Amino acid sequence: MSDTLRFDGKVVLITGAGNGLGKAYALAFAERGASVVVNDLGGSATGVGKGSKAADLVVQEIVSKGGKAVANYDSVEDGEKLVKTALDTFGKIDVVINNAGILRDKSFARISDEDWDIIQRVHLRGSFLVTRAAWPHMKEQGYGRIIFVSSSAGIYGNFGQANYSAAKLGLAGLSNTVALEGKKYGIQCNCIAPIAGSRLTETVMPKEIVQALKPEYVAPVVVYLCHDTCQETGGLFEVGAGWVGKLRWERTEGAVLRQKNKTITAEAVRDNWAKITDFSQSTHPRSNQESSGFMIQLVNGMDQEEKEAQEAANSNDPV
Ligand code: NAI
Repeated sequence: MSDTLRFDGKVVLITGAGNGLGKAYALAFAERGASVVVNDLGGSATGVGKGSKAADLVVQEIVSKGGKAVANYDSVEDGEKLVKTALDTFGKIDVVINNAGILRDKSFARISDEDWDIIQRVHLRGSFLVTRAAWPHMKEQGYGRIIFVSSSAGIYGNFGQANYSAAKLGLAGLSNTVALEGKKYGIQCNCIAPIAGSRLTETVMPKEIVQALKPEYVAPVVVYLCHDTCQETGGLFEVGAGWVGKLRWERTEGAVLRQKNKTITAEAVRDNWAKITDFSQSTHPRSNQESSGFMIQLVNGMDQEEKEAQEAANSNDPV
């Protein structure tokens, strides 16, 4: 067996694959033997208009190199149609890369209802709809690989991108739960926050940087995460410029503010603020259970102590 990571016999659906990062993913998977559904609505970077050219050009490039690809021009908001193209053309669906995206950058107070809604619809709802359409097929075959695309704007915040930040961090949350629910069906799911020169970044980054940050530097990470041999699931990775790293949550040791038989006060919060925000003894909770489990123990322990103290006091009461 060769060491090369191959995708022969695998069907990969990539949304927004007519430009930028999605195109790089489509070419990379096709080169490794996958049958690729090249989805692209073909509109502008702000989500206006549509057309078939973007997807067609990528399909032509793949086919001219001897690869297998089919175009789909629907919006990700029509998730079922994208998956239907995969099933009708190639008979199954193994991998979904939720990459399609647009921008409507405005400072927070200037975001219109429409600018808010279209960003949530394309990024968050679109990723949900495409993935939900693929899910029963993946579940039935006991195999699937899913990528959601977040952004450093969501993870850290970015001026002028409140609508986009909300959608992008939402995708990281969606990925976390999809990864948990997919485990028993052989469905793995990861989230990436890429950086690359593209029509989305050319208006905000200097030309030399846009040219230097090639989408091809991101594609290999997506390819590996979607391979049979990759065990990773539920991860969040920042990727760009030929670098990749994994993120996780970090939590301070914190402070217990409640004391037996006393009410917890805002003054206690103030007086413990240094301890609450001190990362020197931090932990890295990996699950909801790990995060809240000890709080349940804490509350149960204290309630029990208070109950026992109350019972002891009652038993000493003169009858
Ligand atoms: P791009 O504009 O080059 O490619 C996005 C593609 O999605 C376009 O071809 C567009 O036609 C397509 N698309 C838009 N709305 C669609 C819809 N409703 N249905 C189907 N296709 C649709 O942008 P780029 O930079 O390659 O971005 C790809 C993804 O990576 C996006 O989700 C973006 O938010 C994300 N991202 C990119 C970063 C970067 O540095 N380029 C940074 C962080 C995240």
